[in-house]
Amino acid sequence: MEQYIIKGGKPLIGEVTISGYKNAALGIIAASVMTDETVKIENIPDVRDIDVLLQAIEDIGAKVERINRNTVKINGSKINTVEVEADYVRKIRGSYYLVGALLGKYKKAKVVLPGGCNIGSRPFDQHIKGFEALGASVKIEHGSICSEAEGLNGAHIYFDVCSVGATINVMLAACLSEGLTILENSAKEPHVVDVANFLNSMGANVKGAGTDVIRIKGVTKLHGCEYSIIPDQIEAGTFMFAAAATKGDILIKNIIPKHLEAFTAKLLEIGAQVEEFDDAVRVKAVGKLGSSHVKTLVYPGFLTDMQPQMTTLLAISKGTSIVTESIFENRFKYVDELSRMGANIKVESNTAIIDGVDKFTGAVVSAPDLRGGAALVIAGLMAEGYTIVEDVEYIERGYEKLEYKMQQLGASIIKVDSEDTKAIKKFKLKVS
Ligand code: EPZ
Repeated sequence: MEQYIIKGGKPLIGEVTISGYKNAALGIIAASVMTDETVKIENIPDVRDIDVLLQAIEDIGAKVERINRNTVKINGSKINTVEVEADYVRKIRGSYYLVGALLGKYKKAKVVLPGGCNIGSRPFDQHIKGFEALGASVKIEHGSICSEAEGLNGAHIYFDVCSVGATINVMLAACLSEGLTILENSAKEPHVVDVANFLNSMGANVKGAGTDVIRIKGVTKLHGCEYSIIPDQIEAGTFMFAAAATKGDILIKNIIPKHLEAFTAKLLEIGAQVEEFDDAVRVKAVGKLGSSHVKTLVYPGFLTDMQPQMTTLLAISKGTSIVTESIFENRFKYVDELSRMGANIKVESNTAIIDGVDKFTGAVVSAPDLRGGAALVIAGLMAEGYTIVEDVEYIERGYEKLEYKMQQLGASIIKVDSEDTKAIKKFKLKVS
């Protein structure tokens, strides 16, 4: 089993370049099979969830040509089945976008119900509501979402819940429906906008993405295009918080500062320094940081995907902080692991009450999910002594070369097989 070994206590200093946004790439890769022409996508993050989705579209007949680890050409003209049921697909969440994409193009899709991080109940009802409004019948049978339509017709849909997944999925199907679709109470996250921009580059007519109301005029056919994915706001945020946590100084490059405003505001509030440039942000911290109250909200509020990293930072800051998780009910699983490192956090229902401690001490901890795992890496970087983070496969689902990027910033971290005693000994000798 692979694990990270971290010797904490060093400030992270230097420059890091942020990769493409995984959650945008998942929607865009699924959308790319909606045309029979070739699509070239750049700035794809080299992470496991993307590998799984590329494999899934290849398995149903799409031609996937990896120009390099961050650029891919996809051609969906030879898709020979609309059934995506292989077991490995269950592991990721983004596979559900194939329902919208295939239903739009072929008016039929059968896709295994998605898995993804276990961070709370993750219903699909708003996706179904949208597809049904467009005229499809949708059933959940034998663990798969089965959808079918004679034809799809534009509709006026009001989402009961603001959902990134449902907004993107229904937007995909609506692009190849007849007439006008209006999506109200849509998610406004940057990746919704990125998928909409990609669809428009393929000849779709999507307006209003990034606001509550998205208007989609259906077209009969989409065409090929070249597209570059936006930078990953969560990876950027993770490095911003790692800089503050380790009392470091990092220039985070290839970012869109607007997407990071909620994180910047919190860092400034607790006493870190943040300097914004056109496509970079510099985060620096000196001395003890202060406390804060944080509530996760839909964009442009404070993202749930940054909640574990924020809680971890507050756990070694001065005073008492309160973090409320309002999107996913099961997103505090990493707190038990943090407690093993000395954190003083009490979780009551969806709220964490954090009493800042002076220091963390290294321990063996296990990543419970993607962002919880990243938070444990940050904890290890600031802890006294060695921290072992197990179950790194969760972290690798969404962070490209995390340990390499951290090493470039001066961190003492390696990824090793837990059985590889020689490599572990060598690392410990090097950093001791
Ligand atoms: C996306 O998940 C992201 N995943 C998540 O990132 C992210 O945490 C989440 O959006 C919120 O920003 C991908 O983009 C692949 P939602 P998604 O539908 O689409 C409720 C990460 O770490 N809901 O916006 O599954 C739901 O229970 C991952 O990168 C319904 O009630 O999230 C939740 O409370 C983890 N019915 C809220 O909406 C539905 O039909 C938001 O979920 C759908 C959702």
